[in-house]
Amino acid sequence: MANPLVRVAGTGSCLPERRLTNAELAQMVDTTEDWILMRTGIRERRIAAAGEFTSDLAVRAGQVALEAAGVEPNDLDLILVATTTPDLVFPATATMVQRKLGAHYRQAPAFDIQAVCAGFVYAVTIAEKFILSGSCSRVLVIGAETFSRIVDWKDRSTCILFGDGAGAAVLTAAQGEEGSSGILSTHIYADGSYRDLLRVSGGISTGLQPGEDPRVSGVGFVQMRGNEVYKQAVKSMSAAIDDTLIMNGLERHHIDWLVPHQANIRIIESIAKRLEVGMEQVVVTVDRHGNTSAASVPLALDEAVRDGRIKRGDKVLLVAFGGGFTWGSVLIRW
Ligand code: COA
Repeated sequence: MANPLVRVAGTGSCLPERRLTNAELAQMVDTTEDWILMRTGIRERRIAAAGEFTSDLAVRAGQVALEAAGVEPNDLDLILVATTTPDLVFPATATMVQRKLGAHYRQAPAFDIQAVCAGFVYAVTIAEKFILSGSCSRVLVIGAETFSRIVDWKDRSTCILFGDGAGAAVLTAAQGEEGSSGILSTHIYADGSYRDLLRVSGGISTGLQPGEDPRVSGVGFVQMRGNEVYKQAVKSMSAAIDDTLIMNGLERHHIDWLVPHQANIRIIESIAKRLEVGMEQVVVTVDRHGNTSAASVPLALDEAVRDGRIKRGDKVLLVAFGGGFTWGSVLIRW
């Protein structure tokens, strides 16, 4: 019997041109190329050009995904952008993406999702519910960031970690038998008690009092207790993976590809070890992208789809973790 399901019809991504290497960072803060590589696995990251915004990267990734899916912008009935670095406080980056894509004629709803590095997993989860409820049949989901704009470039413990980019997926409604391609399950979680381990201060929370000059108000930047975040990231993503396996009645060896959030190679290796998958089954981009927050999972997914590693029928497990804390997973039969 055919059942409704949600298919990933196409993926896309976009990286800014400028590469920032560890050697360049070693000229900017008290660090070394080796320290960064050994502790994080990062060799370089991309940085958006002046005047290049999150919506620009998002649009380019979205266009590639739409082309791969064979879907026209005006056929979309929902646009979701997961981002922590929107172009503006408002309007939502998703509405700018809608206009720049030329998808505005049909007036499909468009909104942003703020779950930091878990944003793409959150957005896919929301899109899946819209499609399964019958409200939508073609949804563009984008994770896009210009994190370089909220990094303290004088703090060596954080500025070495982050990069800019965007990844996208077009999700479509389908009907399928047991064993058909589609999303098998989605799982999202949050625990707001960890606010102070990873956050951006400033901005609105230290904003203006009536009469104050906006030009001297502080711009927010990332503050993190890296060591503690590290432990929670491994614990939470491992728990999400366990929940996913249990809910789907699967064993660890049933997973063909792990596409984890790309924050630190040591975090990725710990999760792979717990899942008992070899690193040859893990998609790794952190060496070239750094941590691109909401863009990291879709950037990695798109790379492995385009180079042919992920094949039809493979079980692909996306897992992510971010500030909040927020975390989650998506299991897809490709
Ligand atoms: N270069 C050289 N030394 C540095 C450094 C740098 N860029 N950054 C920090 N250090 C120093 C620290 O000051 C500390 O020195 P001390 O021992 O004299 O106090 C030492 O290195 C160890 O710091 P620590 O924070 O314990 O290192 P670590 O092995 O935990 O690595 C991170 C730091 C940030 C790479 C790591 O904790 C991490 O990746 N955390 C998770 C990050 C993450 O995932 N964030 C986003 C989640 S979505």
